[in-house]
Amino acid sequence: MKILNFGSLNMDYVYSVDHFVEPGETMSSMGLFVNCGGKGLNQSIAAAKAGNEVYHAGLVGKGGEALEEKLSENGVDVSLLHKLEESCGHAIIQVDQKGQNCILLYGGTNQLLTKEYINETFDKFGNQGLVLLQNETNLVGYIIEEANKRGLKTALNAAPMNAKVLGYPLELLDWFIVNEVEGKQIAGCDREEDILPILKEKYPRGNVLLTLGSRGAICYTQGETYKIGCYQVEVVDTTAAGDTFSGYFLYGVLNGKTVPEALLLATTASALAIGKKGASDSVPLKKEVDKILEENKFGPLTVEKIN
Ligand code: RIB
Repeated sequence: MKILNFGSLNMDYVYSVDHFVEPGETMSSMGLFVNCGGKGLNQSIAAAKAGNEVYHAGLVGKGGEALEEKLSENGVDVSLLHKLEESCGHAIIQVDQKGQNCILLYGGTNQLLTKEYINETFDKFGNQGLVLLQNETNLVGYIIEEANKRGLKTALNAAPMNAKVLGYPLELLDWFIVNEVEGKQIAGCDREEDILPILKEKYPRGNVLLTLGSRGAICYTQGETYKIGCYQVEVVDTTAAGDTFSGYFLYGVLNGKTVPEALLLATTASALAIGKKGASDSVPLKKEVDKILEENKFGPLTVEKIN
């Protein structure tokens, strides 16, 4: 199934730091690394590297010339992108000694999508496939509605979470891709264990991929729930690990893999991503993921059916 990703495009300015800068503190970083990112771009690249046919839609602004090239060299179709004169989106990312990150976003052209551009893009894409979204662009709710009218499937990665998400027509979604913080806010609960039961009840159409960072992930689809843990691997940089997981997981479920197989692929791909610096640059190739699995290099990992 083809994927149309109305996704964010950011230049990522990644600073290596001893610790995250604190209020009132001025701190020197230990290095700067500039690379292509944005949850949208990273997920398009992950989905394409996994083996999906991916079309990226979005607006490339000034300063983001490398973004189109990066998508294209990773096998993503860029014919639906538009260019604008305004500044491109960017992210200022601190990565600490443990490989954890904190991210400050500037939306730039990611926030300038228009209904006209969206409609025109849908017309060109056609009425078959899955529309992938993150919460880093404007008009997310409109895109969900329009995709639904046109008979396209939809998946929303509700990151970064904010109040706008609750105003989207979430009942129309086929897939929720959320971490525990996003899941709790959408479900309106305080306990992680309540997320799935509430989402299932509130949004009966929705399948759920709940990512739990270093604790693994849970997937609810077609009445069944599966849980996977995580490999113990060296952490260099966690940036884009979640995006890699989403892209590879979607490959699995859209291409006839079982849910356990899709979870295993996604977990292995993101374990490889956290061992490498950068956002899109850390997304592994499918053959690298397959090799790890074939050779059982990260050790055994089982997927449990929990109900
Ligand atoms: O998920 C990682 C991404 O979040 C980064 O590439 C950054 O651009 C932000 O969008």
